Amino acid sequence: MSQRTCLSIILAAGEGTRMKSAVPKVLHTIAGLPMVAHVVKAAEAAGSGELALVIGHGADEMRKAALKFAPKAEAFVQEKRLGTAHAVLAARAAISKGYDDILVMFGDTPLIDPEALAAARLKLAEGAVVVVVGFRTENPSGYGRLIEKAGKLVAIREEKDCSDEEKKITFCNGGLMAVAGRHALKLLDQVGSKNAKGEYYLTDIVEIAAAQGFDVVASEASFENALGINNRAELAQAEGIWQARRRREAMLSGVTLIAPETVFFSHDTEIGADTIVESNVWFGPGVKIATGAKIHAFSHIEGATIASNCDVGPFARLRPGADLRNKAKVGNFCEVKQAIVEEGAKVNHLTYIGDARIGAGANIGAGTITCNYDGYSKFFTDIGEGAFIGSNSSLVAPVSIGKGGYIASGSVITESVPDDALAFGRARQRTLPGKGKELRERFSQAAAARKKG
Ligand code: UD1
Ligand code: CA
Repeated sequence: MSQRTCLSIILAAGEGTRMKSAVPKVLHTIAGLPMVAHVVKAAEAAGSGELALVIGHGADEMRKAALKFAPKAEAFVQEKRLGTAHAVLAARAAISKGYDDILVMFGDTPLIDPEALAAARLKLAEGAVVVVVGFRTENPSGYGRLIEKAGKLVAIREEKDCSDEEKKITFCNGGLMAVAGRHALKLLDQVGSKNAKGEYYLTDIVEIAAAQGFDVVASEASFENALGINNRAELAQAEGIWQARRRREAMLSGVTLIAPETVFFSHDTEIGADTIVESNVWFGPGVKIATGAKIHAFSHIEGATIASNCDVGPFARLRPGADLRNKAKVGNFCEVKQAIVEEGAKVNHLTYIGDARIGAGANIGAGTITCNYDGYSKFFTDIGEGAFIGSNSSLVAPVSIGKGGYIASGSVITESVPDDALAFGRARQRTLPGKGKELRERFSQAAAARKKG
């Protein structure tokens, strides 16, 4: 089948007002990726080489976004929203290039399963001219019904055009269609707009093709394939289904999730076997975790690379560019951004490390801060292998601490410290015997005098 050429047409000219948003509907994200990009990924996974994106008039934002998630896609503008068949025909120029398979998908149906697409393509390869991916549901309202006669699909009737008898049908159009490329334009050009909505329905090609004796079939898939997102409640529902799938996949691949329902993955999270993830952990985009790491509860991680056997959290925040090498530790209430924490280094408590390198085996005391920003520019802090940074120190970048350097706690370090040196950057302590008691007496007498007067 892989030899067959395939064009995927993704319809995304939706109005999207029900999202109550300045952002086009299909750019709302699931697992951090625009829903239309999920559809693109599914098309690619089903072996579809070419992509046409049908967008609404003036959708510059869509074009810009598409450059990121589908750089090779050709965008077509549907000037007026006259129906799904009309939308597909906006991509006429692409269709006429000639493909074996044409897949039509909706940009607001993000949970499409590549296997359902591949199954539909297989039916085309076996000679079908139109394949409709359908699903069964107890509550078919709003969906086009699949009308079958003698085991053959003969029509799809939209809800508004259904007779009472047809409304009882529970086999529905999921919105995914596969059409034999050599017949696609001929069929689409015959679609009219005589229906309750006065639209050009893509679904009408079923009746047209069946009437001409072509092989038209339904291919059954799960309901998720058809879950169309029209508002933020449905967006959250899709997110929930996506996350549940991903958690299961992670667990089956050897990751322990102690409370799976509280762990949230990004579309691109990579996580190795024998990693243990405790409860309430959030993965933003760009996270790669090798094997055997421990991610403790309430950690927020994005754009970070975590090597084998690292220990993170609880309550750690790893931001983009955090790069933890083997056995590194970043503990509670620590934030790490754009910094390498080399093998076995420890950043255990209440610390901010930004724009820095921490050498292997170094120990960063509680409350250490890299002062990396002067309000205008960012500066680098380099901490050598085996260095010891005493608690509550401020390292004012640019600054470097040599290998084995030792920083006294409470220091403000503004000048670089050579290898193996000890640096103090704080006022010297004075201790005045008896002065504490004297001070207390003075204050208490003053307070008593104020009360009387
Ligand atoms: C459509 C199907 C219906 C199916 C349901 C599944 C048709 C006629 N009906 O109905 O059988 O059960 O999906 O969810 O196809 N679009 C455009 N331009 C247009 C019209 C639509 O780009 O002129 C896009 C929309 O943005 C959307 C998709 O096509 O992504 C589907 O359109 P929509 O109006 O939501 O169709 P439904 O009534 O849900
Ligand atoms: Ca819809």
